[in-house]
Amino acid sequence: MDKKWWKESVVYQIYPRSFCDSNGDGIGDLNGITSKMDYLKELGIDVIWLSPVYQSPNADNGYDISDYQAIMEEFGTMEDYDRMLASAHEHGIKIVMDLVVNHTSDEHQWFVESRSSKDNAKRDYYIWRDAKDGHEPNNWHSCFSGSAWKYDETTDMYYLHMFAEKQPDLNWDNPVVRDDVFKMMTWWCDKGIDGFRMDVISMISKVEGLPDGVDGNYTPYVCNGPHVHEYLQEMNEKVLSRYDLLTVGECPAVTVDEAKKYANSNGTELSMVFQFEHMDLDGGETFKWNERKIPLSGLKAVMNKWQTGLENCGWNSLYWCNHDQPRMLSRMGNDSDEYREVSAKMLGTALHMMQGTPYVYQGEELGMTNVPFGSMENIRDIESINAFNELTANGTFDEETMFRYICYKGRDNARTPMQWDDSENAGFTTGTPWIMVNPNYTKINAKEQVSRKDSVFHYYKKLIALRHTEEAVVYGSFNLLMPEDEEVFAYTRTLGSTVLFIACNYSQNEAAVEIPAELAGKKAELLISNYDEQGETAAKTLRAYEAVVWKYTL
Ligand code: GLC
Ligand code: CA
Repeated sequence: MDKKWWKESVVYQIYPRSFCDSNGDGIGDLNGITSKMDYLKELGIDVIWLSPVYQSPNADNGYDISDYQAIMEEFGTMEDYDRMLASAHEHGIKIVMDLVVNHTSDEHQWFVESRSSKDNAKRDYYIWRDAKDGHEPNNWHSCFSGSAWKYDETTDMYYLHMFAEKQPDLNWDNPVVRDDVFKMMTWWCDKGIDGFRMDVISMISKVEGLPDGVDGNYTPYVCNGPHVHEYLQEMNEKVLSRYDLLTVGECPAVTVDEAKKYANSNGTELSMVFQFEHMDLDGGETFKWNERKIPLSGLKAVMNKWQTGLENCGWNSLYWCNHDQPRMLSRMGNDSDEYREVSAKMLGTALHMMQGTPYVYQGEELGMTNVPFGSMENIRDIESINAFNELTANGTFDEETMFRYICYKGRDNARTPMQWDDSENAGFTTGTPWIMVNPNYTKINAKEQVSRKDSVFHYYKKLIALRHTEEAVVYGSFNLLMPEDEEVFAYTRTLGSTVLFIACNYSQNEAAVEIPAELAGKKAELLISNYDEQGETAAKTLRAYEAVVWKYTL
């Protein structure tokens, strides 16, 4: 298998608004990030993926960009950015920027001009259509509720916005748009950044004619569209291939077959993709709002499909959470005081020992949990607020139920401030935080965890280090064990004569593990475990949320 630095790396995602506030205005910023570089170095991560820091009116917390070559005032200045980049590089940490180019803000100069008249030179930068029989041009739903079309009085036409009204979709079929995007990307690459995470990049090519979808479902006409690979190959040729980058495409509705193209090992498109199948197991985008748990056998089936499907022809990214998902502990593990730490370590083990590049979302390394929001007044996320309004108004849910679902699945669970210490506001800010702090910061915080050797933090540090010291963790082939079992997630990773045996108990009960015949009874080395007491070789039962990684040399 081709060796690449980004296959041997662990990425840490920073949501800048909620990471660290350096000037007391309640909003995290670039100087705050710079001040935490030593912390990230100690954790041992290789790469930071920075959620958007560009100029933005913040309709969607920076995913609505009004100037790609300026920094959001609340986050600092371009000088602050350059200092942060230099400091990261001095610490041996790379920086991956969030590239949001399916859409811009409606306050971007391109859109301001585009909407001004039908014959403006930038008109065709966006997707404008006439009304159809006095209605929207088609029946597509926006990802953030309501129609995907907004009527614009100035020219008596509609524009397409797959997300919020303030996020008009760019017209990628226009070669001038593509060139402008590529120029902007080149500008950032020349600054010395190390890659891009590409926001909803599978949605940039829409099917011609923009046909109605069944019940308004746009997916077949928007995701993995007719020219998406062509456009990414062009981007690769004109920009990406000229630098040594990590590129990861966020790809709603991607299948393994599509991913083989996006993340092909010839390197003609991207390094890897974010797929969503495992996140959709509890309802996902088809119907996100519920309080279901992700079933283990389903999770294993999906992970197995991706692990084996991309082996030797693509590359996986591995994640249990990010800024769009609730906290993994509350969704897949156990966030009670008794089991929080042990189950956080178990989930981390299950993920980090697979093949692919692991992503740690800020606070995951501390075992941060979902948030007791109390009421809708504490919710900031546009997706949750719009869904609350739409689904309570049309009678799908009463307000109490919908609020409960938002507390379970809403994106704000991941967006409350990073918990640095047990001082007021978790040490995130000296001012008033833009979103409430999870009250459990007095017991879950970085200061306490860094000082305690058996904390989740130190366990993650060890998991991350294993990726750098054990080649089989990076390049070993994956083999799932016990596929039907609803309690144990077990697999092996094999590279040459090395076999790693990974067993994780997803349940609170004691659970039996089947040890593969060729390993049973053999002497092995324990690489990591979330329980101290272990025998000479793998045991046949696992305690509550126990995780073990044994290394065999055959
Ligand atoms: C992606 C981002 C999400 C954002 C959306 C629109 O899914 O991760 O946060 O709201 O795209 O840009
Ligand atoms: Ca600030």
